[in-house]
Amino acid sequence: MNILVTGGAGYIGSHTVVELLKNGHNTIIVDDLSNAKEEVIERIEHITGKRPYFYKIDCADKAALDAVFEKHSVDAVIHFAGYKAVGESVKKPLQYYRNNIDSTLSLVEVMEKYQCTKLVFSSSATVYGPNNPYPYKEDMPAIQSTNPYGWTKVMIERILTDYTTAHPEFSVILLRYFNPIGAHESGLLGDDPNGIPNNLMPYIGKVAAGQLDHLTIFGNDYDTPDGTCQRDYLHVVDLAIGHLKAIEYAENHTGVEAINLGTGTGISVQDLVNAFESANNLKLSYVIGPRRDGDLPAFWADATKAKNLLGWKAVHTLEDMCKSSWNFAKNFQ
Ligand code: UD1
Repeated sequence: MNILVTGGAGYIGSHTVVELLKNGHNTIIVDDLSNAKEEVIERIEHITGKRPYFYKIDCADKAALDAVFEKHSVDAVIHFAGYKAVGESVKKPLQYYRNNIDSTLSLVEVMEKYQCTKLVFSSSATVYGPNNPYPYKEDMPAIQSTNPYGWTKVMIERILTDYTTAHPEFSVILLRYFNPIGAHESGLLGDDPNGIPNNLMPYIGKVAAGQLDHLTIFGNDYDTPDGTCQRDYLHVVDLAIGHLKAIEYAENHTGVEAINLGTGTGISVQDLVNAFESANNLKLSYVIGPRRDGDLPAFWADATKAKNLLGWKAVHTLEDMCKSSWNFAKNFQ
């Protein structure tokens, strides 16, 4: 298939493009490089021996997107492009709503014009909000978040669902990710956010590399086994393979399908720190600090649906995630 990948130079996007190319799909990347680097395209080529098409455009720019669809016969789209920093979204809500929602509307309008009916959307476990019991299942209410970034995911899921009701020939797969970490085994692709990282693993990488002095664990007085928050960390390569399976599933599917991508296991912040130290044979400097506003004590996925529908299951271990994260971080800090 010819697959357009918006945000394809980013962390999850680039790993997904590698899996698509390895499996014989042609890929067309659209990315404005607002949180990614152009060298990623060379690195994808280095890993796969194939060069994806690349257009440096903002996905909300409908005319530019139209020109890409005019040039390529696009069979399906994976939509990653969007701002994703939770804390920043609280400070700049309009920027988040404008960017994330506009880019989705432009994309679907152009898809409609070119009769492209297959879409995989990068959603998040954040849509389960603060009130559902865990493990989260796809049929639980997914209508609430705790920050503007998360609300854009809730709203886009709604927009795509309404669109599909009006266009029953359309297929949309809403992939709800838990916490992706890890990096490509080549050490060439990984999570490399601009500025000081907000997420746990890239922060740990910078501490281990000596670029940040220490990690602060946000709270150890939660009602969890060791008092630190628990999350469902999954390897980004497993996540990327989930997209490959979803896009292939969408080929013969119409309607809306929400699917969790997670391991089904809760790992605490303290567990992750310990695993990183032992996998990489090093010591991390860390302190216990206050809780971070908006953090939930614990959640993880019920990943049964992904297994039944897509034949997908996360296979990488926590040790793989810690080793590959450090292998990338020490090369690219
Ligand atoms: C957040 C988003 C999620 C998004 C994910 C990846 C929400 C509520 N969560 O998840 O939607 O998909 O980022 O972008 O919108 N921690 C520390 N010290 C640090 C950093 C983090 O202790 O310096 C802890 C946090 O308290 C949390 C865990 O590490 O318990 C994971 O944090 P993080 O990587 O930021 O991801 P989430 O907040 O779970």
